Amino acid sequence: MISASAPGRVNLIGDHTDYTGGLVLPMVLDCRTTIEGEFTELEWDLTSADEPERCRFTPGVDDPRSLSPRWGRYVACVVDELRNVGIGPSGFRGHVATTIPIGSGLSSSAALEVAVARLFADHTNGVLSEAEIAQLCRRAEHAASGVPCGIMDQLCIVSGRVGHATLIDCRSLHVQHITFPDDLVVSVEFIAPRTLAGSEYADRVEQTNRIESIIGPLRDAREADLVRIDDPLLVRRARHVISENRRVTEFVEALASSDHTALGSLMVQSHRSLAQDFDTSTPIMEAAVERLLAEPDVLGARMTGGGFGGCVVALRRR
Ligand code: GLA
Repeated sequence: MISASAPGRVNLIGDHTDYTGGLVLPMVLDCRTTIEGEFTELEWDLTSADEPERCRFTPGVDDPRSLSPRWGRYVACVVDELRNVGIGPSGFRGHVATTIPIGSGLSSSAALEVAVARLFADHTNGVLSEAEIAQLCRRAEHAASGVPCGIMDQLCIVSGRVGHATLIDCRSLHVQHITFPDDLVVSVEFIAPRTLAGSEYADRVEQTNRIESIIGPLRDAREADLVRIDDPLLVRRARHVISENRRVTEFVEALASSDHTALGSLMVQSHRSLAQDFDTSTPIMEAAVERLLAEPDVLGARMTGGGFGGCVVALRRR
């Protein structure tokens, strides 16, 4: 019997910046997905504590993108990607269970992908770097869900350390572990279910591609470059990404100097930018952020992740 697991993640600041090679600051959560079982000859056969239907497929025979039930697609697409790089015995029989709320924006799908990849630790250690495992799982996510997500979720989950925030440069894939102060606490509140497949996420990716065809890489852009964009909608989208990258750097500096006022203010600015310039918030998320900001121990609060539902995150004094 072998087992492998991977945690969920929450993003402290830096949303909708990863797919243009920007900066993000997520952290791993203390909830996780675990797979237990044994390798077999041919077929994959997984039961789940959280989903009614089991997932069965034969690698190289069944199309991983059209499997039923849908959760099996994430498993099969990772297995497919591993086979593409020449890794892995072909069959597995086992059981999956998770303590990550599914479909709530805490990366339950990325955790499942990384847990599957970790089953192959004996085959991947020293062969694939953490960044390569994350890229492989990201390709699997694209194939399984059709959502053109960035690298944040998979790379944070592969490389994150408990008690640290994970500063990721999504262009170089360089990861820096930032010690999280003992006198602060992060709380995550589930607001509404969301699925990025049915959301405008792909539209945002397409809009940022159009911006980059006008002003070049958003990672290198400055607010002064906005005058080169004619379309007011694209100006707003670009302003969010440019300012959000700056806020991530400032947030890391504020953590280092224990500047609680700056930490809170940067989270609120990030939320407003996502709501007003990137249009990824919803009325119910707005109300939740306002309610949290009125609590005496809350320094800052914001939507977290892709938006259009999901969770809000708050930073609190312990
Ligand atoms: C989702 C995606 C990530 C990232 C966030 C927004 O979680 O999976 O790649 O783009 O949205 O920051």
